Amino acid sequence: MAQTTSTLHLDFLRVTEAAALAGSRWVGRGEKDLADDAACTAMRRELNNLPICGRIVIGEGEMDEAPMLYIGEELGAGNGPNVAIAVDPIEGTNLCAKGLAGAIAVLAAAIEGEGCLLHAPDCYMEKIVVGPESVGVVDIDAPPGDNVRAVARALGKDPQEVTVGLLDRPRHALLVAAIRDAGARVNLVSDGDVTLAIAALNSDSGVDILMGMGGAPEGVITAAAAVCTGGEMQARLRPDSDEQRRRATAMLGGGDPCRVLQTSDLARGHVMFSATGITTGDLLRGVRFRRHDAILESIVMRSATRTIRRVETTLRLDPSLPVENRW
Ligand code: FBP
Repeated sequence: MAQTTSTLHLDFLRVTEAAALAGSRWVGRGEKDLADDAACTAMRRELNNLPICGRIVIGEGEMDEAPMLYIGEELGAGNGPNVAIAVDPIEGTNLCAKGLAGAIAVLAAAIEGEGCLLHAPDCYMEKIVVGPESVGVVDIDAPPGDNVRAVARALGKDPQEVTVGLLDRPRHALLVAAIRDAGARVNLVSDGDVTLAIAALNSDSGVDILMGMGGAPEGVITAAAAVCTGGEMQARLRPDSDEQRRRATAMLGGGDPCRVLQTSDLARGHVMFSATGITTGDLLRGVRFRRHDAILESIVMRSATRTIRRVETTLRLDPSLPVENRW
């Protein structure tokens, strides 16, 4: 069992590679649903080939609203560990459809009994994410300027040298103003807060903190990356209907569904993370096609060793091979 789980993250790498390759066929075609379907199909096919008893905990929706990779779907070839899986076959579906920078295929997983991932509802989540050097200094309830100054102190730089990444949304107007008032710089992106969070977790990316509200499912995947890198995430679910509130309460096991969640409430123990670029962005290069092959770039991490691998794969596009043997 130990041998299986110590290389499982590399199997998950092949899963995000398959999704990225399939999604990349739809880059710039203005068809985000078809792109997502292609990436989902490839991801599901690869997951079904793995020697695991997998169960989707974050996926494309509830069973009645998503035909594949729905929450609760059981995947894998069996004969292996029970694994909870959180997927986003295309994180940044609009980016992919428009051919814009930063679309990725991403997956997080936890070996059941050794680790776990929160079964988050499909609602918004407030997030703050910082890298290992800033662990313990931020507070999601503190004014944004206090968090900027705390991270500046932890990193040994001026607040003017701190960069905060956020999704470019009208709901963040006050937050952006407060960050700028504190002297920090903001990096606004149109989509993709998982990529921004990974930048915040990595000390030389140019982004020091992720703040703001994005998807809760993306938040759980982000938390797995935080566990793998030794960074920190704090979060709060923001259900906006009675149904979402009911689901959020159930998924948190009761209590206030809007309480502050720490990294370990979202992801803990033996977790793995893999992401592969679809379109070229700050984190990863996108899929590049040549005459007979495609080149993919991925980042794959696991918490057990905190190893972070950057992997470039040259994939032979040999039409004589069955599709599942091409990577
Ligand atoms: P999709 O790929 O599912 O479209 O998600 C993109 C994304 O930007 C996420 O990174 C982010 O968490 C979420 O959407 C934010 O939601 P909204 O666009 O409603 O602000």
